[in-house]
Amino acid sequence: MGLRNRQWLLARRPAGSLSEQDFEYRETPVAEPDPDAGDVLLRNLWLSFDATQREWVKDQEGYLPPVGLGEVMRASAVAEVVRSANPALPEGSLVQGLFGWQDYVIVRPDDAIPPSPLPAGVSPEMCLAALGGTSLTAYFGLVDIGGLAAGKTVVVSAAGGATGSMAVQIARLRGARVIGIAGGADKCAWVKSLGADDCIDYHAENLPERLAALCPEGIDIAFDNVGGAQLEAMIGQLAHRGRAVLCGQIAGYDAPEAPPGPRNLMTLIYRRARVEGFLMLDYLHRTHEAFAELGPWLGSGELRWHADVQEGFEHIPRTLLRLFRGENRGKQLLRLDPPKGGPA
Ligand SMILES: NC(=O)c1ccc[n+]([C@@H]2O[C@H](COP(=O)([O-])OP(=O)(O)OC[C@H]3O[C@@H](n4cnc5c(N)ncnc54)[C@H](OP(=O)(O)O)[C@@H]3O)[C@@H](O)[C@H]2O)c1
Repeated sequence: MGLRNRQWLLARRPAGSLSEQDFEYRETPVAEPDPDAGDVLLRNLWLSFDATQREWVKDQEGYLPPVGLGEVMRASAVAEVVRSANPALPEGSLVQGLFGWQDYVIVRPDDAIPPSPLPAGVSPEMCLAALGGTSLTAYFGLVDIGGLAAGKTVVVSAAGGATGSMAVQIARLRGARVIGIAGGADKCAWVKSLGADDCIDYHAENLPERLAALCPEGIDIAFDNVGGAQLEAMIGQLAHRGRAVLCGQIAGYDAPEAPPGPRNLMTLIYRRARVEGFLMLDYLHRTHEAFAELGPWLGSGELRWHADVQEGFEHIPRTLLRLFRGENRGKQLLRLDPPKGGPA
């Protein structure tokens, strides 16, 4: 075929903040797919950027093995089927999966995480943003772990990100009162435009004081994406029998040392409150439940999604950094330019 594969590899384990130098660019020839083995050749079109990728590059226990040094960086993507002997994945169709930071990838039907076809009429952006893992995370974290119900007071941290912006809206659409926490006045204004009753700018405002002022009866559900000081502030304001849903701890992912844990866990005892973590992966068999509720809201426009789209293969590593600098709004994506010499 003579195709070249552009790739970004993990060059070293990041020490402290992630940097572009943690990744190395390489070009290799694309292997010939073997139709007898069921090989399907894909070309990536869109990449998803997720906070969890920062955890995948650490040499530590996780829900997936760490990305190895010298390996292609793992990433969710939407790709086009370029060559296929598999009738279930016809050439020209779009599929989603963990295809990594590269132009081409060969997948097989017996892969541990096989590619899944995009539903008809769903664009790659919509698939990765509105219908992607971050939306499912927001849904199941709130509904299943948080016990979301009308009239509850819900606080969401990293409320302007992919997971948070969906959590804010799902809580509001279910009739809850919603307070967001986000970095910067502009992001807070955007979170309010999504329907949050208020949004606290943690860069400029005193978080514990503002939570106390905005949630005088206490927080029923604290949906926490951040950990550290923000989790401590939310625990401090939990209502009697309130719940803190541990979705993520991004304040610690990119720091040389994890921030200190909440110092106020006695509050959980006095208020008979609960802290519970969860993994969206455990809900994959229940996605139909989420889509049954999210689908009509998306169709009616009541639930809005925003994709923050970067362009260009060379900008892949720096696009991941955007998540840890608070530069993204909504779901961070990157559209790949067609590789030179490949099919347009
Ligand atoms: N449990 C699960 O199954 C599951 C699944 C998916 C995601 N998650 C978690 O959900 C969280 C959000 O992930 P995402 O992929 O949707 O990313 P995201 O929210 O789109 O982007 C990350 C946001 O986090 C905030 N942030 C970054 N560094 C921070 C720091 N040091 N302190 C405070 N805030 C910081 C920034 O917003 P500001 O500008 O507002 O600071 C940034 O925009 C992560 O913790 C992730 O691990 C969990």
